[in-house]
Amino acid sequence: MSANKVTVSTLHKMKADGEKFAVLTAYDATFASVVDECGVEVILVGDSLGMVIQGDETTLPVTVDDIVYHTRAVSRGSNNALIMADMPFMSDATPELAVHNAGRLMQQGGAHMVKLEGGASQVEVVKRLSELGIPVCGHLGLQPQSVHKLGGYKVQGRGVDAAEEILSDATRLVEAGADLLLLECVPSQLAAEVTRSVTVPVIGIGAGPDTDAQVLVLYDMLGITPGKRPKFTHDFMQGSDSIQAAIQQYVKAVKEGSFPAAAHCFL
Ligand code: KIV
Repeated sequence: MSANKVTVSTLHKMKADGEKFAVLTAYDATFASVVDECGVEVILVGDSLGMVIQGDETTLPVTVDDIVYHTRAVSRGSNNALIMADMPFMSDATPELAVHNAGRLMQQGGAHMVKLEGGASQVEVVKRLSELGIPVCGHLGLQPQSVHKLGGYKVQGRGVDAAEEILSDATRLVEAGADLLLLECVPSQLAAEVTRSVTVPVIGIGAGPDTDAQVLVLYDMLGITPGKRPKFTHDFMQGSDSIQAAIQQYVKAVKEGSFPAAAHCFL
């Protein structure tokens, strides 16, 4: 392993030292190599690929085979970044299924960690994966795989009960062995509270400036996603003369805390 390789321990040390880290999605070897060379610590092979690569309306049709294929390409293209692969819809519905499918993402795809959506209902799954030595990132807040139950892509954790549920889910996932957490579209104040209350690094998207790290979908931050861009994204190509310069700007803005700004956050 090269000395610059990012590991789960690197990210935990960064949290302990108060140093923020940057996460971006990538789905192919060329972009993975650019993102890696620009100093992004974690590359997420997200099931957002169902929407931005495959053109579907949701992430639900994405399969384990799809994620294995794209993760393998990303792992060939990157050198130092930690590669996190999403567990697709229903691929983690039981501990047995999750072990089988996470094993494929790591063995066939070359992922270093898996990410899965869900709180209390995923405690047993996270526990089993963790016992078997599979690093896990728990995804709380807006869970796009539940879009039909939620009735749309809406901010989560507003109101006392909803906020308490997310705080409790965060604690339970970490106690079960989650190595990282990701919070999507929650009020900034709640994200700050979760980040303070857990020992593991928290990655945010639409979760305000106080999480330990930020993630964006690559095509959103390059300003090439068609249609209306979500409030929490920013087009880093504005004022940059190359893709590399835009990604470097993103990394710098995350590390110095200037992204996200108030305009990207939810109350
Ligand atoms: O699939 C994905 O890209 C994600 C991010 C939006 C966090 O889960």
